[in-house]
Amino acid sequence: MITPAEFPYITSIHVNDCYTYQNFDIDLVKHQPFSHLILTGKNGSGKSTILKNLDLHITSLFHNNENIELNDSINKLKKEIKRLENSNPTSNQSQANDLKNILKTFGRLLITFSIQDNVYFNNRKRFIYSYLSPIRNSKVNNVLSPTKQDEFERQLTQNKTSSEYFIKNFKQFLVNRKVNQAFAQLRNNKEEIEKTNTFFEGIESIFGEIFEDKNLKLIFVEDSYEFFIQLNDGRQLTFDILPDGFSAFLSILMDLFTRLDLIRKSVGNFTYDPCGIVLIDEPETHLHLSLQYQVLPILTKLFPNVQFIVATHSPAVISSIKNVTVFDLTSKEVMSDEAVGKSFSELMVSHFGLDNEFSNVADGIFDKFNAIIKEYRGNIPQRNAKLKELLNENEKYISPTMRFELEAKLSE
Ligand SMILES: Nc1ncnc2c1ncn2[C@@H]1O[C@H](COP(=O)(O)OP(=O)(O)OP(=O)(O)O)[C@@H](O)[C@H]1O
Ligand SMILES: [Mg+2]
Repeated sequence: MITPAEFPYITSIHVNDCYTYQNFDIDLVKHQPFSHLILTGKNGSGKSTILKNLDLHITSLFHNNENIELNDSINKLKKEIKRLENSNPTSNQSQANDLKNILKTFGRLLITFSIQDNVYFNNRKRFIYSYLSPIRNSKVNNVLSPTKQDEFERQLTQNKTSSEYFIKNFKQFLVNRKVNQAFAQLRNNKEEIEKTNTFFEGIESIFGEIFEDKNLKLIFVEDSYEFFIQLNDGRQLTFDILPDGFSAFLSILMDLFTRLDLIRKSVGNFTYDPCGIVLIDEPETHLHLSLQYQVLPILTKLFPNVQFIVATHSPAVISSIKNVTVFDLTSKEVMSDEAVGKSFSELMVSHFGLDNEFSNVADGIFDKFNAIIKEYRGNIPQRNAKLKELLNENEKYISPTMRFELEAKLSE
């Protein structure tokens, strides 16, 4: 088992080129044992490019390149490719191509880890790693019969991340778990029965948080290998009729839950909290504001030793967790935990680059208000009549804060 002190968390990313911007560093704040990273920035600023390249970079460390030092790698790689191609171009070509792919990855960005020894990346059954793209593919396949667990374990150790596989086969994974439990009952294996109960209770409790329903139950129908989410109000939902928001959130969890369970099984400890790195592009996709606020707290609670690296447009996401570095690609501004203490409207102005905290409709009212003040400067009664007219027309759009700001303008 790897402890957080031993695991190579990301401490800094040097971006050579993310198309829009070149040559800058994203230094994570030195929270212990690691800092989460939230990337923000305008559309097209390079958030997804960075996440995709982090994925390529990290997965390239899993296999075949133990002898490559992380830093100083580019020159070494170039030399090695030349050597391979010069010494025996035909037989060495595939090896040279592999190295060229790694070079491409290193070329876009360079990562510094807390531990400069990537030996811990060699055993995929010891840590969690996943990259979740912005398109939430949450379709779960139906189950025809129980299957062997080997395929799940094989997918866990695959070089390419297989979120799609884990999400599609989540129900299969649950069915296999239930069937194993039934065998354990036949053998009267109390420990195994207990482990499976804990696993399903964990799932129910977390689904309960997402659905805001403490009494939520996961019901298994043996004859059809079907699972129902039973809600307190009597509704029974299958995985394929979930609302988009829930299914988007659950798809993240299905992927990470399956990995967690397989890793716990592999180390033989069902309370183990594996270390790891998880990249999520736009975790807020399809979520209502209150769930946007919960997505990272729920994930960091479930996976306390996992470093989350996310790209987002949501002020609710950036202000939702501690031990975080928020990096804005547009301004290159770094924020640490102070984001947590800010109101959404302050964040809109200070971090998301809006001119002020008001909506476009409100901005229009402010503009008209200012124009009247300017035009009728010499005639106060007429100015007041015009302002009153404007306020009456827009009564329903004027919030208490806005009224306060408008009144302050009169005394300027
Ligand atoms: N393979 C590519 N070749 C050339 N340009 C690319 C490639 N991939 C992305 N880009 C460009 O790089 C820029 C950054 O794109 P990226 O998708 O990373 O932005 P983003 O910050 O994730 O934006 P959004 O907030 O809209 O998701 C864009 O201008 C995009 O067109
Ligand atoms: Mg993007």
